[in-house]
Amino acid sequence: MNAATGHESDRARIQWLREELNRHAHAYYVLDQPTIPDAEYDALFIELQQLEIKHPELMSVDSPTQRVGGAPLPEFAQVQHDVPMLSINNGFSEDDIRAFDRRVSEGLGQSGDIEYACELKFDGLAINLRYVDGVLVQAATRGDGSAGEDVTANIRTIRAIPLRLMTDNPPAVIDVRGEVLMFKADFARLNQRQREADLKEFANPRNAAAGSLRQLDSRITAQRSLRFFAYGVGRLDGAALPETHSALLDWYSALGIPVCTERAVVPGADGLLTFFNHIGAVRASLDYDIDGVVYKVNRVAQQQALGFVSRAPRFAMAHKFPAEEATTTVLDISVQVGRTGAITPVARLAPVSVGGVTVTNATLHNEDEVRRKDIRIGDNVIVRRAGDVIPEVVAHVPERRPADARVFEMPTACPVCGSVIVRPEDEAVARCSGGWLKCAAQRKGGLQHFVSRRAMDIEGLGEQLIEQLVDRGLVTTPADFYKLGLIALAELDRMAEKSAQNVLDALAHSKSTTLPRFIYALGIRHVGESTAKTLARHFGTLDALMAASEEEMLAVEDVGPVVAQSILGFFHDPLNRELIAQLRAAGVHWDESIVERDAQPLTGKTFVLTGTLPNLKRDEAQALIEAAGGKVSGSVSKKTSYVVAGEEAGSKLAKAESLGIPVLDEKAFLQLLENPA
Ligand code: IVH
Repeated sequence: MNAATGHESDRARIQWLREELNRHAHAYYVLDQPTIPDAEYDALFIELQQLEIKHPELMSVDSPTQRVGGAPLPEFAQVQHDVPMLSINNGFSEDDIRAFDRRVSEGLGQSGDIEYACELKFDGLAINLRYVDGVLVQAATRGDGSAGEDVTANIRTIRAIPLRLMTDNPPAVIDVRGEVLMFKADFARLNQRQREADLKEFANPRNAAAGSLRQLDSRITAQRSLRFFAYGVGRLDGAALPETHSALLDWYSALGIPVCTERAVVPGADGLLTFFNHIGAVRASLDYDIDGVVYKVNRVAQQQALGFVSRAPRFAMAHKFPAEEATTTVLDISVQVGRTGAITPVARLAPVSVGGVTVTNATLHNEDEVRRKDIRIGDNVIVRRAGDVIPEVVAHVPERRPADARVFEMPTACPVCGSVIVRPEDEAVARCSGGWLKCAAQRKGGLQHFVSRRAMDIEGLGEQLIEQLVDRGLVTTPADFYKLGLIALAELDRMAEKSAQNVLDALAHSKSTTLPRFIYALGIRHVGESTAKTLARHFGTLDALMAASEEEMLAVEDVGPVVAQSILGFFHDPLNRELIAQLRAAGVHWDESIVERDAQPLTGKTFVLTGTLPNLKRDEAQALIEAAGGKVSGSVSKKTSYVVAGEEAGSKLAKAESLGIPVLDEKAFLQLLENPA
């Protein structure tokens, strides 16, 4: 082979590698359908890098290797936007949305339903990408809307953004607008890395995306996984603008530009609200954060007819979810003692509304978290609440730290019983060493757990009642509940004979329970509801469980050494054995034959529950499935046997339909239970 053909074949190989790498990146970032494992991608990438080093004359600015970042910049240059980057008006309520739709209809003088394009409101940063003759030449932040910062070097490192558009016939100039963001999983990985390197963690994916993009050193940006979704257009020369917004996004997608698939074209205000509700239901399962949805009049001609008011278009509106984060002041930091003695620092906050709920306390998790986030008494902090989880303090706002902010000191003695607080070296959690007998906080926590809905389900025995019962020495262990009499109960604060009788009835009722509930109610460390069920199914009887050896315990599905030790230790303790004997003597019982250990009608079948059923509560449906040997899972996959769907079923129903999984309504579900196929 002579040098010339060697060169020619390298040239062809380079060309092939670039196309191949671009094809895989497109499949991964735009189509969301990965085609090859990361390792293979990396191998192709390295091969291309080496060939380019061998042939510098064949280097090209749009090669996939040119995404690694370059030397740090002294500062960002300013970029004037040819078409200003506008902001968008916000709406929060149904009324706001109906008013928007009315304004649009009136503005257009149209009586029928307006056609809207609905999309997500991504929680990231707005970016303008300029492609000239199909090649990415400049990227700029929104800035004040008229001028932003030139972040081209950073944007080039984002693999989701094509360096060259996928067309032979690109427009002369196009400004693609959209949002740069970080996916939740990438955010978690980044913070993990920051933690390991003893660097500051980011408060949320938005801050992480902003921090990554505003790096003067693009080599740092290159190490952060950023993503992009397009949602608009600025200047466009040399091509006709599509007639609708949805067609614009379809065009982008064909050009290889990532566009989010969660979008829809809908008629009128009702269509908008349906989209909003649908997204509300799937929000938690999205790979990234959103703070609402955006509605745009779909027809570009109508958009132009409506025009702008000050800095926002009349044709668009953001429908925001109630904020899940808010800022407030830390009034104090105290500690809470949990039922296992775990000491949790809790921030006492100036009351603040987060996602529609007033929050006055937020967890700080443990001592290390307080140090790492450097939260001090007096600080201004960001508080987050997501779904049903306990509100947490995310970060402090450094610029607003008062001069007299005080550092939190972890107490050395339990604030409730005075016992020493110990923290094993390899554990994050400090615990009160007093145990359940000495420490009233642990006692109360354990008793609350015992009566809770998923354990013995004793209604009417709330936190305040347990508080009084323990403080007056009437109850020390769960067995004492069953010794309570009407007179003692009726004498307590906020109790009367009727409510006392209700508690007694609930106690009597609870005596007839199930083995999994009973095991769970004991509050053995590391034994949650699902492990309790597994143990019951595996051993069949409480006596068998109590007599199990370490070896037998380790043979149980999902039970590792730590869990096994905890269970063995619990049943080894004479106080616990005594407690169990007393509970049984008080009449607590279960039908051991119900815990069938062999195949049952629904053994091997997995169900997913979604939406609201007309009669059955979710727990009830789950109990019925499990009693028949079936399993309940939270997400739909190919392995799902049935989806039971009620009203307002969301994405799980759609997924089941797309996978061809049988969907049952309540009636069909009950029929199946009676008559399993
Ligand atoms: S359209 C002409 N669409 O929200 C309207 N903006 O206040 C221009 N955003 O800073 C914006 N998702 O960063 C639009 N699907 C979406 C969006 C979106 C997020 C952000 C954008 C901008 C702000 C608008």
